[in-house]
Amino acid sequence: MYSLKADAICRYAYTDVYANTLRYFEQQLTDIGFEVAHDPVGTMLARNRARGEPCFAVGSHCDSNRNGGKYDGTLGVATAVEVCRLSKEHGLELPLQVISFLEEEGSGFGQLLLGSRIVAQSITEEDLRERVRARDDGRSFWEHAAAAGYRPQDWREAHDILKHLVGWIELHIEQGKILEDAGTRIGIVRGIAGYVHADITIQGRADHAGATPMDSRHDAGVVAAKTVVEIERIARAAGDGTVGTVGEITFRPGIINVVPGEARFSLDLRGMNDEKVEMARRKIVAFARNAAKRRGMEASYKERQTVPAVRLDHDLVAAIESAAAAVDEPYRLMVSGAAHDTMCVAPFVPSAMVFVPCRAGISHSPLEQADPGDAAVAAEIMLNAAQTFVSRAMN
Ligand code: GLV
Ligand code: MN
Ligand code: MN
Repeated sequence: MYSLKADAICRYAYTDVYANTLRYFEQQLTDIGFEVAHDPVGTMLARNRARGEPCFAVGSHCDSNRNGGKYDGTLGVATAVEVCRLSKEHGLELPLQVISFLEEEGSGFGQLLLGSRIVAQSITEEDLRERVRARDDGRSFWEHAAAAGYRPQDWREAHDILKHLVGWIELHIEQGKILEDAGTRIGIVRGIAGYVHADITIQGRADHAGATPMDSRHDAGVVAAKTVVEIERIARAAGDGTVGTVGEITFRPGIINVVPGEARFSLDLRGMNDEKVEMARRKIVAFARNAAKRRGMEASYKERQTVPAVRLDHDLVAAIESAAAAVDEPYRLMVSGAAHDTMCVAPFVPSAMVFVPCRAGISHSPLEQADPGDAAVAAEIMLNAAQTFVSRAMN
């Protein structure tokens, strides 16, 4: 069995370890004159200007994958704090806001980008009250948020944290090997792949594994297995960088000598071309339904969420390119295959991302490794791009 490593970071919303991490960053920001607040469900924000005044925003998330490393998300928040510190040290005193989004990874509630989707209001109150449930104890997000001292009933106010923002940059580790292979320290992201997250369940019949002949089975596991293989074929055939993954699979009752009566597996389908992703999704669902039907079973499909691909702000991307060129730092324009909170910010605020390399492209693993020196270079570039953007917005 693949076990979670002892040195893995496992940090998610409303746990003590998560609260401690936020407190650490909050102290750093308070020390340089920022005022810290939380939105009604726990996304952290800090500003060096009064509410209502325009600011440039930087940040990422502090929660981790359940078998996570030190850099996915947290490096973005640490770098955002560094941008604020540099702005102060250089006497620029730019109007800045730091955001650390809640539950980007879905480790607590099985929903990617949960905090930023709340901010973007692309989720319903019913989802938050009923459908989104903790992976640990099955209690609703609503109950957990209230128990942690937040005000889930005011969740719509979370959108206010994007008001009066003139721009947003998120720094993140690349989570691929393109920058490392090219020996380039800075990636400037111009687009982020969209994704579909869903569950497919095959209903068969649990029978004795020894006493039931092969011809009289309704083995849900076999249909699931065939669909997993077909997902790989369909994603490859879709092209344009479309990728499909089954990361979770469970058989019930899950006993060695019982034919699986039910199989549930997750679907993670992504790409920059929304039409191709949607076409692949339909083919996968049709395949699962037909494969089940041929064997006298049923397949059902339940979407968790769909987020379309995002193109980032042309002017802000250009400002980051100029800022990199100004410090003679080679960079690479790229797209992100991984999802980021920036996807939820971009519809409302001119947004871009900066990537730094991570060793061997490894992420979502305790083996994640990145060079803080790269993030320091990125912080300088982000500061200069923010300065350009702020002076344009204010004049
Ligand atoms: C976020 O970490 C993702 O799965 O893309
Ligand atoms: Mn991340
Ligand atoms: Mn991640």
